[in-house]
Amino acid sequence: MSEIVQDYIENYIRGLIPENEPRIEKFRNQALKDEIPIIHKEVQKHIELLICSHKIQSILEVGTAVGFSASVFALAMGPQGQVDTIERNLKMVVQADENITDLGLKNQINLIIGDAQENLTKLDKSYDMIFLDGAKGHYIHLLDDCLRCLKPGGLLISDNVLYKGMIATNELVIRRKITIVKRMRAYLETIANHPQLLTSILPLGDGLAISWKKD
Ligand SMILES: C[S@@+](CC[C@H](N)C(=O)[O-])C[C@H]1O[C@@H](n2cnc3c(N)ncnc32)[C@H](O)[C@@H]1O
Repeated sequence: MSEIVQDYIENYIRGLIPENEPRIEKFRNQALKDEIPIIHKEVQKHIELLICSHKIQSILEVGTAVGFSASVFALAMGPQGQVDTIERNLKMVVQADENITDLGLKNQINLIIGDAQENLTKLDKSYDMIFLDGAKGHYIHLLDDCLRCLKPGGLLISDNVLYKGMIATNELVIRRKITIVKRMRAYLETIANHPQLLTSILPLGDGLAISWKKD
């Protein structure tokens, strides 16, 4: 459980979410069995809703892992939608490539191998949506490039922003996570008050921030 909302609320909401199509359900179950930290079910549903309602057709993702969220996003956008996704862990990259190939999504998902910050600086493209799901302590360092690469009217979605509740209260902070907590708090304060963004922070999954880049 996420430790963000009470278990009975989370269980109830999850119970209302219909099962994914069988190949995605199998993918989710395998990733969870392998202890890969993929997006929570309710976060997946919320982002699918945003993709469909905003007619998102291009996504940049930071943090591919085994390619679960990238695949879900590609399917939600339909065959014309494109995902660029960045991953620095080569073991993950190999698994992601296999999974994406198995799902027949290679023509929609472009795996970028390497560090997010290095690759973002070089990126000369703009996207309808950017999904931050990499190292939590680095969101703040990626923000300027994300804003540069996000189309006006686009969505910046940041996952795990409440980080097991630690971001909201010092009582939950584990000593070795202090730097991450400080950086995430700075990130949330920045996106909540940024003149180019309208931001809403939701206690969904491990905490989800949704920021709309003003037109
Ligand atoms: C939470 S997992 C991503 C889960 C995936 N988005 C999903 O829901 O299916 C985070 C991934 O980000 C990668 N990562 C962390 N920091 C990164 C960085 N600076 N550059 C590239 N990848 C990074 C990690 O190796 C890890 O595989």
